Amino acid sequence: MALTSKPRPGKEGVRTLCIDIGGTGLKALVVDQRGEKLTERVRVETPKPATPETVVAALLALVKPLAPFDRVSVGFPGVVIGGSTHTAPNLDESWKNFELKESLEQRLKRPVRVLNDAGVQGFGVIEGKGVEMVLTLGTGMGCALYLDGKYVPNLELAHHPFRDGRTYEEYVGGRALAKIGKKKWNKRVGQVLAQIDPIWNPRRIYVGGGNAKHLRLDLPPHVRITDNVAGLLGGIRLWDER
Ligand code: BGC
Repeated sequence: MALTSKPRPGKEGVRTLCIDIGGTGLKALVVDQRGEKLTERVRVETPKPATPETVVAALLALVKPLAPFDRVSVGFPGVVIGGSTHTAPNLDESWKNFELKESLEQRLKRPVRVLNDAGVQGFGVIEGKGVEMVLTLGTGMGCALYLDGKYVPNLELAHHPFRDGRTYEEYVGGRALAKIGKKKWNKRVGQVLAQIDPIWNPRRIYVGGGNAKHLRLDLPPHVRITDNVAGLLGGIRLWDER
C-alpha cells in the first residue's frame, strides 16, 4: 500500500493515532474522524538520552496497545520542516535532519504527518479567525501563530532573549519553575505575556502545556488557559485538506 494513499475507513471511520513527543513524557491516544477520543491517553517517560533511536523505540512500544489506527499525527518539540526534524532543544542534538515522518511510516506502516508540538496544540483550540497565538508551558516554551486558521510554521519565540540574559524558555520553562517555585514563576509568566501581547497583537492567546495548570494569574479576556490534552487532539487537523 502506498503510504501516501488515503486510509480506508473501517466501521468507526478513520482512526488517527495522535502522538505528542515531549521533553519529559511521550503521550498518545487514538481519535475518531470528529476528533473524539477512542482510547485512553497513554504516557511514558521520555527516554534518556532522548535520541531518535531511543524515542522511536519507546513510541513503538507505547502505541502498540492502541492499534488499530489508519494514520498518525505527531507533535514534535522543535523545528519541523517537511517531516524532518531540525532542532530539539529539550531532547538531543542528534535530531538535526532526522527523517521522523519517514522513519515512523516505515515502522508503523501507516501515513504519518509531523508538526511542531505547539503548532499541533493550537489546532486543537483555535477558532480560525484573525491572528491567534498559542504558548505552551512545559519542559520548553512552545509558541505557534495562526492567521485565519492557517499555521505560520516554526515561530521559535522560546529562544529569543527576554530578560537578564535569559531567553523566554530559560525564564519560564520547566527548569525555571522547578528552581524558583510557582509563585515567582507565575509572576514571570505574567511578564512574558505582557511583553508578547502588545508586540504580536493576537485576537486570542491560548496558554497550554503541562505547567499551565499551575497558573494563578488574572488574565485579560482574550488570554485563555487550555487543557493539555489539546496537544494531542489537534493532531486530527493535520489531515484537513489544505
Ligand atoms: C522548542 C519548540 C517547542 C517548545 C515546546 C522549545 O524548546 O524550541 O519548538 O515547541 O520547546 O516543546
